[in-house]
Amino acid sequence: MIDDEISGAELGKKTAAEMALTLLKDGMAVGLGSGSTAEWFVRLLGRAMAQGELRADCAATSERTALLAERCDIAIRPLDSFARLDLTVDGADEIDPALNLIKGGGGCHLIEKIVAAASDDLIVIADDRKLVDTLGVFPLPVEIATYGWETTVRMVQGLLAEADVGGRQMQRRLARGTPFLTDEGNFVIDCHLERIGDAVSLAGALNRIPGVVEHGLFLGMASRAIIGAADGSARTVFPA
Ligand code: A5P
Repeated sequence: MIDDEISGAELGKKTAAEMALTLLKDGMAVGLGSGSTAEWFVRLLGRAMAQGELRADCAATSERTALLAERCDIAIRPLDSFARLDLTVDGADEIDPALNLIKGGGGCHLIEKIVAAASDDLIVIADDRKLVDTLGVFPLPVEIATYGWETTVRMVQGLLAEADVGGRQMQRRLARGTPFLTDEGNFVIDCHLERIGDAVSLAGALNRIPGVVEHGLFLGMASRAIIGAADGSARTVFPA
């Protein structure tokens, strides 16, 4: 799989993951992100560790990533066993010029945010389709408690009615026709906002709704992004 012939966006993802791997120093404590781009990083890290090129102590941001890590012979430690992580390498659904992000396309943003906040650096890896001028075309995932979920949805609707956004449609995420549940057993509401005019206000307002467990806005958290292109090149972007 790791050496299969790939092209297009997949090559961009892999190239970004390869460049991120060069930032690791031996013995670092590393958070492993979730999603298809982060999975490239996990596979490459597993190979580097198996070949004795690198040692790392790792925490995972989802059950799926933990399973993949195990298959790659990377031991996963609970986050609480680390004082801090040196860095986390994770993907994103949208990246703006300030490196504010929308994450949670896979529904892992709660754990991803906890792990990122416990890391000295959050390094985002993505193919160049993820770069946007303004966040919001990708639906914003909002993880909500199952208890009273319709009440919470009404509160989010009320908030969006007043917010500087371009659209207000909301959908509870489904998986094979049944409500999608996160690793923590919560629902996800995808908010089709089209354009988020004021991400800081929106994030703060969402945080104030008790039934909202976490949303997918990662503001001011990423220290750099590594962007891969379909031609196999990659470049590092720092917050504008
Ligand atoms: C998982 O919930 C997400 O935050 C992912 O990191 C994000 O969706 C990027 O995934 P891909 O790398 O698969 O696009």
